[in-house]
Amino acid sequence: MGKLILAASLIAALSATLAWGEEVSYTRQIKPLFDARCAGCHGKDTPEYPAFKQEKEKWLAKGQGMRMDSYSHLVYFTAWPDTGALMRRLDDGESAKDGKPGNMYQYLGATEEERQKNLGLFKAWVGNWVVKKWPEITKEEMNGIRVKY
Ligand code: HEC
Repeated sequence: MGKLILAASLIAALSATLAWGEEVSYTRQIKPLFDARCAGCHGKDTPEYPAFKQEKEKWLAKGQGMRMDSYSHLVYFTAWPDTGALMRRLDDGESAKDGKPGNMYQYLGATEEERQKNLGLFKAWVGNWVVKKWPEITKEEMNGIRVKY
């Protein structure tokens, strides 16, 4: 009987751990966050990154950035080819050499508490918060990037 109770509580503890340690995914946490805080300037009416660069002044004048409103787009700015762009821009300064936050950090929330909470979600989603560019990033560092769908 004692063993049974022990087994039951072990299972309960295990499933609690699993729920707690559940991976952050694009569909569950990142997309809603992106839609609320980033899509206004990186939404469906904004250009692909190379097209943005060709007409940068025009888009900047409109206060608009490049398109990032899908899973594939966001991965482009995380893993490759624009490796680490998302991490550099969203960082609060902790991972930067100069200690300064990235210029998109401010958009993560209205208060410091909210910004930190949402940065935590992005960090958990990326997995390995490397601010290096391609090709400085190592294969091992690259391997730690998770970006679950
Ligand atoms: C008020 C408009 C605005 C909002 C809101 C905004 N951005 Fe941006 N973002 C821009 C503009 C404009 C640029 C291009 C200029 C620059 O590089 O700073 C940019 C550039 C970027 C880049 C750099 C891409 C590259 O490599 O050149 C990333 C990454 C990024 N934004 C991510 C985000 C994320 C994630 C959010 C939401 C937390 C967000 N941005 C919210 C306007 C915005």
